[in-house]
Amino acid sequence: MSRPKISIIGAGNVGATTAHWCAAAELGDIVLLDIPQVGDMPKGKALDLMQASPIMGFDSKIIGTNDYADTAGSSVIVITAGIARKPGMSRDDLLGTNAKIVGSVAAEIKATSPEAIIIVVSNPLDAMVQRVQQVSGFPQKRVFGQAGVLDTARYRTFLAMELGVSVEDITALLMGGHGDTMVPMPSCTSVGGIPVTRLIDPKRLEEIVDRTRKGGAEIVGLLKTGSAYYAPAAATTQMVEAIVRDKKRLIPVAAYCDNEYGVGGYYVGVPAIVGAGGVERIIELDLEPQEQVDFDKSVVAVKELVAAMNNLSL
Ligand code: NAI
Ligand code: 2OP
Repeated sequence: MSRPKISIIGAGNVGATTAHWCAAAELGDIVLLDIPQVGDMPKGKALDLMQASPIMGFDSKIIGTNDYADTAGSSVIVITAGIARKPGMSRDDLLGTNAKIVGSVAAEIKATSPEAIIIVVSNPLDAMVQRVQQVSGFPQKRVFGQAGVLDTARYRTFLAMELGVSVEDITALLMGGHGDTMVPMPSCTSVGGIPVTRLIDPKRLEEIVDRTRKGGAEIVGLLKTGSAYYAPAAATTQMVEAIVRDKKRLIPVAAYCDNEYGVGGYYVGVPAIVGAGGVERIIELDLEPQEQVDFDKSVVAVKELVAAMNNLSL
């Protein structure tokens, strides 16, 4: 049986690390693509990863390239192409540059892998995923963005550190945009089945939520030369796995919401079932009053970002 083809556009930190984990989990054969200006860099990373396979015990093939012909017929495409933020920059500062980049990538994908499911990672995420859908014209359920799995993982990590329990016992949900207005949902957070609000007092929980909102900036401040990539790549790999293994994972993703949550045609982070068809169903919850206020605020921020993008000459 042949393995699904997984193409990763952008062979930088997030792209190469995603290739690493997708290969280690044998999710498919992997194509790592970057621009001609970086020369043979993707080939070098791909060959290096292939040489890890006898030790790590995986049979996935990995190739590096600058040519979209090598990505043709991909089942899944991950877009990490673009610039990453440096200290002092917000995700939104990347808007103009990355909108041009992901638009050109989407046009190439449309021509070479018309049946692919696309996972967008490039920032500012909620606008970039909208741009990729606009340019590709793919059905909305086949284009969605990675943010919530990462943000939720940060939240779960901080909760596990606080309580001294295994991360495996913490289930949680975050909604809204991938920015400072993201909405952690204490009402949907539990530890070994116990609601988190029975274990952590509201003030301390709010501090943890605040650290989660600023989780990306905390890593940028420490790295100084770029942004996080191990956890983002792990989050992306989980989404790739949900598709290629038709796992029907219920995970938070930046999904296209029209009537859902009254969003009106934008990509925002919501819980969804992800499987072989992409976003197969969005789960609509009755939000608690404060969650609804926070979610509405986050949707406004996403709409403003998309409006700013649509006003650019791209
Ligand atoms: P990086 O700078 O290490 O890699 C980006 C790569 O994209 C570079 O190798 C660059 O040559 C390539 N690239 C640029 N233009 C391209 C084009 N037209 N076609 C193909 N490749 C192109 O950056 P890193 O750390 O990998 O981050 C990538 C993006 O992902 C950034 O926008 C970053 O903000 C975003 N990000 C998003 C996260 C999320 O949760 N959604 C988490 C982490 C990063
Ligand atoms: C992060 O949250 C930069 O969006 C990226 O780490």
